[in-house]
Amino acid sequence: MKFFIDTADIAEIRELAATGLVDGVTTNPSLIAKSGRKFVDVVREICAVVPGPVSAEVTATDHATMLAEGRKLAKIAPNVAVKVPLTPDGLKTCRALAGDGTMVNVTLCFSPAQAILAAKSGAKFISPFVGRLDDVGTDGLGLIRDIVQIYNQYPDFMTEVLVASVRHPIHVIESAKMGAHVATLPPSVLRQMYSHPLTDKGLAAFLADWQKTGQSILGT
Ligand code: E4P
Repeated sequence: MKFFIDTADIAEIRELAATGLVDGVTTNPSLIAKSGRKFVDVVREICAVVPGPVSAEVTATDHATMLAEGRKLAKIAPNVAVKVPLTPDGLKTCRALAGDGTMVNVTLCFSPAQAILAAKSGAKFISPFVGRLDDVGTDGLGLIRDIVQIYNQYPDFMTEVLVASVRHPIHVIESAKMGAHVATLPPSVLRQMYSHPLTDKGLAAFLADWQKTGQSILGT
């Protein structure tokens, strides 16, 4: 499973990229607004830090303007994945950008029917939002299960399932069990994935016992 980081905070991206665990980055207009920086500058900087796909979202809603925006964003760096919303104009734009050879991430997916349309439109990634479905009392992970099952029936669908709106490690674990290709994680969730109280307790005990030996691996 590939891990993308869901943030536009360049300091966080640099720190997490150094772990070697980061395969890409996703941004959206809300994350860009939170960064307080100029969109194009942030995307350029992220693309230089992370060689994998970096999603940058269009903000127009009509096909012609979305396509112009998408083509402009695609020119920032070869690893830009243009993000378009799952609307009729968005999918028309997806088809055109895919025809240019640009990676397209179709975002705001909330149903299997929408995911089928995105795959047929040539999307590189489909982004189902699990957390936002859970928030409204629906089974977010059930959507991932349905999409993975449907895509697996059609080897000609090249679209990767990118689990988005992830809120906690269980979303990641369950999506991995289902075979989702990618999860985009808020930095806090990636950090949570390292943690287990028995790891902390076990390490403390090992270090205490080691200290009693008076030895040092690097010392004489
Ligand atoms: C990523 O591509 C999505 O925009 C993001 O995961 C949405 O997450 P949120 O529901 O926490 O805003």
